[in-house]
Amino acid sequence: MEKKLIPLFFVVILFINLTKATVRVQIYPRGSAKDYILGFRDRSALYRSGSVTEGDDRWLQVASDMIDKNKCDYVALLFYASWCPFSRLLRPSFDLISLLYSSIPHFAVEESSVKSSTLSKYGVHGFPTIILMNSTMLVAYRGSRTLDSLVTFYSDVTGKAF
Ligand SMILES: *[C@@H]1O[C@H](CO)[C@@H](O)[C@H](O)[C@H]1NC(C)=O
Repeated sequence: MEKKLIPLFFVVILFINLTKATVRVQIYPRGSAKDYILGFRDRSALYRSGSVTEGDDRWLQVASDMIDKNKCDYVALLFYASWCPFSRLLRPSFDLISLLYSSIPHFAVEESSVKSSTLSKYGVHGFPTIILMNSTMLVAYRGSRTLDSLVTFYSDVTGKAF
């Protein structure tokens, strides 16, 4: 029953050469983060699949719980900053891929809506960052904004074409 929060540390940087773009992928091991925040559990009832949910710390806990309870294999997290033009440019692709991979819950997390410790916990060092997370790993994507390269990232990580 003893589940400790394992710090997420940086393990590998893979450079994957695609035909069009160089995509930097970072892989992190993931601890099962049992948080102390009360009241968040009700939120999973508010979650709607097939669309992007605007998230915060408590939604991240819901996302984590969904994986730990095997309600889904992966969740996708977009960490973005409202002041960042690249974040704005990526958003339409993220919205689209949430429809293509509708079995994966998608959350968009604005940087100021979470604690800064959350950003380091998820290994977010810049915006926008997309993370695919399952029960054992976090894989971070900071590559091209095109839908094409996102699809490549998703299918590489999940092993599933949409
Ligand atoms: C989690 O994702 C990683 C990377 O895609 C994969 O290698 C691993 O098998 C997955 N773990 C589970 C429990 O599905």
